[in-house]
Amino acid sequence: MSTKLFFEGEESEFEQYIQGQQYSSYILLADAKTNGFCVPLFKRIIPSLSNSSLIIIPDGEQNKNCTTCELVWDELNRMNASRKSLLINVGGGMVSDLGGFAASVFKRGIDTVHIPTTLLSMVDASHGGKTGIDFNHTKNMIGTYHPAKSIYINTLFLQTLSERNLLSGTAEMIKHALLDSEEYWNEIQFYSLNDFSQIDAIQHSIAIKNRYVNDDVHDNGIRQALNFGHSIGHAIESHSLTTSQPLLHGEAIILGMEVELQLSRMKLQLDNRFIEQFHSMRRELFPSLTQHFDTAQLLPFLKNDKKNEDGFTMSLIKKPGEPIIKVSVSETEINEANQ
Ligand SMILES: NC(=O)c1ccc[n+]([C@@H]2O[C@H](COP(=O)([O-])OP(=O)(O)OC[C@H]3O[C@@H](n4cnc5c(N)ncnc54)[C@H](O)[C@@H]3O)[C@@H](O)[C@H]2O)c1
Repeated sequence: MSTKLFFEGEESEFEQYIQGQQYSSYILLADAKTNGFCVPLFKRIIPSLSNSSLIIIPDGEQNKNCTTCELVWDELNRMNASRKSLLINVGGGMVSDLGGFAASVFKRGIDTVHIPTTLLSMVDASHGGKTGIDFNHTKNMIGTYHPAKSIYINTLFLQTLSERNLLSGTAEMIKHALLDSEEYWNEIQFYSLNDFSQIDAIQHSIAIKNRYVNDDVHDNGIRQALNFGHSIGHAIESHSLTTSQPLLHGEAIILGMEVELQLSRMKLQLDNRFIEQFHSMRRELFPSLTQHFDTAQLLPFLKNDKKNEDGFTMSLIKKPGEPIIKVSVSETEINEANQ
């Protein structure tokens, strides 16, 4: 997979790279909020793309669906987008997941570039090539592998992001640290939200994700370690989307990791000290995240999860830096871990 990564300070390299691909047209995709907060900034930073056409979709996970994709395809068609058009996704993980998917099947696939504008999409969602939309109340049920041609990351975009959304991004960074090493895990124990939002921390987190992705692009083996916290987390997120107070993705993943750390202790003898450290970070960063979901509420979503085609299997961790994939877990064990 050859996605070119550009960071703040490398604007002219990014522009040269895009111009060098000789696209027939450039189309920006933004959601209602990133259109207001981020598209004007993007046009100022990258003036050579400021005359691009624009498609605006409604924001939020509840719109990461087929109806919104149809809107994108309608607009691409109306704009006479060709196979040599470039779709530039300006937004968080919702925009890159949906825009990536819409582009991957439009005229059998057009190129995309991601301009991530949330912390979560900078460190996670825009990397690795997974695209997707939610279907029948299940997260990412429909999707493809369609890596972006390039990704441009600038922390200036984070200035308008709400604190709740910034915090949501730290969840995936905490997961990356758990997958990396005891040393890095210990280091982030003292991180504030401001530390997590610095370009160095973002680059470190991306490097951890890319290490797992590059060894297993199509997710048949070690890349599945990145699912840590997501089996339970996605079930929590899917369930919460049916309620009047949906959780953000990262919030659901924090709650999912909490249960999966207990499962890691029960199944792989993870040392309790790491669980204590996780709890103290959670108390510090997410003091008002108090929701609890009964196992019975989560089971229908867990059974629908594409990761659980043969009973419940999860990616757990033996210790920071030592993930174990495909661990079989019973309903009774999930219930015990989720007390
Ligand atoms: N493909 C992958 O590998 C992968 C990995 C992790 C998560 N994801 C997906 O990512 C999605 C979550 O992404 P997210 O947390 O970025 O949420 P999001 O894209 O829904 O953005 C959250 C909210 O912030 C707004 N916003 C975005 N940038 C802003 C900015 N700079 N200023 C002000 N407002 C801004 C958005 O309009 C939205 O309302 C989920 O659908 C999840 O499944 C995908």
